[in-house]
Amino acid sequence: MQTTTDLAVIGAGPGGYTAAIRGAQKGLDVVLIERETVGGVCLNHGCIPAKALIHAAGFQKDIDHWNSLGIETGPVDVDYGAVQDWKNNVVDRLDRQVLDSLDHHGVELIEGTTHFADADTLHIESAKGNDAGAAVDGNAAADGGDTRTVDFETAIIATGSQPVEIPGLEYDNDGVISSREILQIDEVPDEIVVVGGGYIGMEAVTKFSKFGARVKIVEALDRVLTQFEPEIVDSIQETSEMYDDEIYTDALAQRVEYDDGQPVLVAEQGDDELHLSGDYIVVAVGREPNSAYDQLALDTTGVELTDDGFIETDDQLRTADEDILAIGDAAGPPYLAHIAARDGKVAAAVAAGEDAAVDNEYMPAVMYTDPEVAIVGLSEAEATEQHDDVLVGRVSMDTSGRALTTDKTSGYLKVIADSDEQLLGVRIVGARASDTIAEATLALEMDAELDDLASTMHAHPTFPETLSEAAEAAKGEAIHSH
Ligand code: NAI
Repeated sequence: MQTTTDLAVIGAGPGGYTAAIRGAQKGLDVVLIERETVGGVCLNHGCIPAKALIHAAGFQKDIDHWNSLGIETGPVDVDYGAVQDWKNNVVDRLDRQVLDSLDHHGVELIEGTTHFADADTLHIESAKGNDAGAAVDGNAAADGGDTRTVDFETAIIATGSQPVEIPGLEYDNDGVISSREILQIDEVPDEIVVVGGGYIGMEAVTKFSKFGARVKIVEALDRVLTQFEPEIVDSIQETSEMYDDEIYTDALAQRVEYDDGQPVLVAEQGDDELHLSGDYIVVAVGREPNSAYDQLALDTTGVELTDDGFIETDDQLRTADEDILAIGDAAGPPYLAHIAARDGKVAAAVAAGEDAAVDNEYMPAVMYTDPEVAIVGLSEAEATEQHDDVLVGRVSMDTSGRALTTDKTSGYLKVIADSDEQLLGVRIVGARASDTIAEATLALEMDAELDDLASTMHAHPTFPETLSEAAEAAKGEAIHSH
């Protein structure tokens, strides 16, 4: 079976489905090809289920909070299977919303695995299901199993990324799992060992420690979360307390051994060899998009790779083959779902003939530790390197009325500006940091100055008020903090 289309999108994660819907909104005929489930890793095996479990794990802190207010609770039972059912239901609802939207916009969804036959053609093996509406109704596989050919004007590669595998700790070893499988287990483990003190490692601590598991972190570098300033890492107080005794830095994971059937991680720490046992060893040492490249048969196209081995793209997300674009994780780091979704919109506009381009200046990043961390723009150190004089306003969360009235007082908010009071960056450690960072990102996008933040009226009492207070602190005019 042969189809001709304006736009073929490979991969239905946040990048791919956004590109497909936006392409259809712009009047293009769109085919979207996915071998697993729409929504990709983020919706099905990453961001969404992870944040749902982190939310559920918050019960433990909530109980302490209510008790400290004089509201006593009896014994609490956690039915982790029911928690998993709730989390899976959240994922299903979002999956259906995506399918519904694809259907509404007339995107043709094809289930199957695809590769390029040449620079204008895709072959799809075992193509099943032919429209998103059928998938919404649960009938997607009804007509399936053909090999299909799609001739396209433009193709968008949105194939995402996979967890990096460590030799000696391959995922086919018993008990060695990735961040995907740890979200599916049906009982809270007694102990887990996490290899990698990055985003996934720290968010794993946040979830599983609160559910009662003992979490051990093994990190190759001399501290965890090297992508964030030490000041931030030192301030995620509750998370730090959870992992403090069980963090092994300068420790390089080597291999798995078994003791009575239980996996034991062997890691090198200087001259010593560590042996750490757990119900599971979760390997979270980064992600990489490259393994999809071979499966796509990119050598049949003009697509080229950078020296680092990622698909090379320009600011319009075009590869060296100008009718083939690459977006999101497929185009290399940073691997964040909101970057993929932004890329999807830009790529669809480019496919529709518009003069769109990506602007990577202000990309917020959020980590769902306790408290949350959110950053955008320059850090104080980066600003100091790039500017002669830098203004910094730092406000402790415990000066916020909203933080005090909700008993969420740990952390701080820092605003960084140049000597002309032009905003350069914001750092937040605190409750609802993931929400407050949106205002900071908008302010940076709109070239705001300190006065814009300081003079914008903020409802009281709210967490974002702290942003205004920090802008005033940078001007030496803070009302509540000094
Ligand atoms: P990561 O890059 O954040 O951290 C990996 C850590 O593993 C690094 O600190 C590295 O030094 C360490 N490591 C590497 N090899 C090691 C070895 N042999 N032994 C011990 N330690 C080793 O990667 P992670 O946590 O796997 O996350 C993957 C990606 O997923 C991140 O790049 C992030 O962009 C994304 N993500 C984003 C989240 C968010 O936005 N909230 C949440 C979770 C993941």
